[in-house]
Amino acid sequence: MHLVLLGPPGAGKGTQATILARDLRLAHISTGDMLRTAVREGSDLGLAAREYMDRGELVPDELVIALIQDRLGAPDARGGFILDGFPRNVSQAERLDEILEELNLPLELVLNLQVPEAELIRRMTGRRVCPGCGESYHLVFNPPKSLGVCDQCGEDLIQRDDDKEATVRMRLEVYERENAPLVEYYGEAGLLVDIDGRGTVEQVYDRIRSELK
Ligand code: AP5
Repeated sequence: MHLVLLGPPGAGKGTQATILARDLRLAHISTGDMLRTAVREGSDLGLAAREYMDRGELVPDELVIALIQDRLGAPDARGGFILDGFPRNVSQAERLDEILEELNLPLELVLNLQVPEAELIRRMTGRRVCPGCGESYHLVFNPPKSLGVCDQCGEDLIQRDDDKEATVRMRLEVYERENAPLVEYYGEAGLLVDIDGRGTVEQVYDRIRSELK
């Protein structure tokens, strides 16, 4: 399967993509995760991306497109993929179409997660992540077994720099600006399916799975 998962910051894209990738044996390709790794490693890409991410703005298209082109060319993507956080605007979507055409991996479905803003803010400000293995938690909705510690690898959990409230608001503004044309683009291509992203992780997952049947 060749899928894109769209949705505002905090909608649950990473959460759902992780479960889908495991259950359907797909490559989970998250530009946010790749960029955060680059920042952590202090690579040239990370140094260039960091200032945009800290402000809650999009990283320039050419940097992200180069990253995604490489990743989609890797062997595991041929067995199916789910894109999480890419594309973010119409020019990324157009470039994605070209890359997938070259690779002969046409998109099959674009899932558009929809969650009200107050819930997005609750989800993002309560999120905690593991700097070691990348596992994501929520203080209330998905707490770790032991407070502040990753269940998977035992590292201390941290708050993402861009989950502070002022940056969260900027990320939501950027999303509002860029998303409508993107939704229109995929709607016209006949690929778009809206998914109600409210409720528990399991409820949202069941809605997605019924669209994939
Ligand atoms: P990115 O990492 O892609 O962030 P985002 O799109 O803002 O999405 P999030 O990771 O915040 O949320 P999510 O939808 O994955 O939700 P999650 O599952 O974690 O991008 C970060 C930055 O990188 C961007 O701002 C930009 O600068 C840059 N960037 C990335 N891609 C780019 C691109 N293509 N172009 C340019 N720049 C790019 O869930 C959130 C929380 O809610 C978690 O705590 C989770 O446990 C909880 N939760 C999830 N589902 C539920 C549920 N159903 N009920 C209750 N809680 C839930």
